Amino acid sequence: MDVFRINGGRPLRGEVTVSGAKNACLPIFAATLLTGETCVIENVPDLSDLRFMAEIIENLGAEVERPDKNTWRITAKNITHRAPYDLVRRMRASVCLLGPLVARLKKAEVSLPGGCVIGPRPIDLHLKGLAKLNCEVDVRAGYVHIDAKRARGGHVFLGGRHGSTVTGTANILMAAVLTPGVTRIESAACEPEVVDLCKMLLSMGAKIEGVGSHCLTIEGVDKLNGTTYRVIDDRIEAGTYLIAAAMLDADITVNGAHPEDLSALLDKLEEAGADFSIELGGRIRMRGTPGTLNPVDVITLPHPGFPTDLQAQMCTLMSVTPGLSIITERVYPNRFMHVPELQRMGADIAIEGASAIVKGRRNPLSGAPVMASDLRASAALILAAMAAHGETWVQRIYHLDRGYENFDEKLRGLGADVERLNQDQMPKDLSGES
Ligand code: EPZ
Repeated sequence: MDVFRINGGRPLRGEVTVSGAKNACLPIFAATLLTGETCVIENVPDLSDLRFMAEIIENLGAEVERPDKNTWRITAKNITHRAPYDLVRRMRASVCLLGPLVARLKKAEVSLPGGCVIGPRPIDLHLKGLAKLNCEVDVRAGYVHIDAKRARGGHVFLGGRHGSTVTGTANILMAAVLTPGVTRIESAACEPEVVDLCKMLLSMGAKIEGVGSHCLTIEGVDKLNGTTYRVIDDRIEAGTYLIAAAMLDADITVNGAHPEDLSALLDKLEEAGADFSIELGGRIRMRGTPGTLNPVDVITLPHPGFPTDLQAQMCTLMSVTPGLSIITERVYPNRFMHVPELQRMGADIAIEGASAIVKGRRNPLSGAPVMASDLRASAALILAAMAAHGETWVQRIYHLDRGYENFDEKLRGLGADVERLNQDQMPKDLSGES
């Protein structure tokens, strides 16, 4: 297992380029199952989650090739309808295979995904949506069994206790594009990644209206064609660099930072007094001076609200911003796993229900051995280590490698002192691994 050794306090200078969006690629990979023709997907980040999704798709019978590191060619000519537990349990997002299998084969058997550290990750809304398309949904022995022989277009309301569902919207969308009749999805998620999936489906010949809104109308067609599609840049990766620069001695430009996908973050950074400028062609320049921002309150919400995937990074930013800020997580029940590790570095944060009360101070953090617990918590800890005095070891970097391509390399390119080492190179007295 890999660890990061980071020495804090280094200024950031120069340019960094964002990779393709993991959360757009995952449903887009699944969408290649909707046709027997070849789909070429470009700008795909080299991440473990995507290599794994490709493995599952190949296991279903598709022909999968990788002409280069960031391009995949998938031809799902003959596929089976069953996605086994030993594969699905390792990545929740594989649940979005349900929609394409139902659409293409009129049946599906997909293992129920496990939960993860940020919450139970239910799929009741996915199943409700499929039932509204007149599918027979049967959950037994840990698998979802769908019989879609009599499926037809229907009216689906996808709002849940936490608002819309991103992969739930993707699933129903992908089921509907080949289901006879017209389907309306109300309270659909409209994250940029969902918009990207819609655009890819449209390029395959799907009929979808309302793209980018909370109401999608789909008219089922008989078949879809292959396509060549370039995935959007990763707004969460872009936001992570912008937050890092806002809290450090920094002057960087982020290539692939599209302001229209980052409105909620930019609004909060502006309120905090961050010094950034938007340039043409999806580039944002950020200058930072440590400890000079104003504290802000953040509430995470479905898009266009503040993205939950940037909540942990904001906890780090507010920890080093003098004053009191309240960061409230409305999307997941338990997404503060980064807080205890930030506290070990000196952050003053108290969890009160769904909120983190952050008492920020100037330069409060000092290096320490910390443990990553999930993808975005890893990023938050690395940002904290870059702001801290001294040396930090971040363990279980495999969480980070799920969602950030070459993160250490890109940070070193900006001047950060980040080194990727093997776990056994870590001083034994510092390692928390048994
Ligand atoms: C997607 O997860 C992203 N993952 C998550 O990113 C992201 O945090 C999340 O959307 C919210 O933006 C991918 O796209 C692969 P949801 P998803 O269904 O679709 C509840 C990252 O760090 N819910 O929108 O699984 C659910 O429990 C990851 O990149 C139900 O109650 O999220 C959660 O509280 C983490 N019933 C909330 O809704 C359902 O049927 C949002 O879930 C479905 C969801």
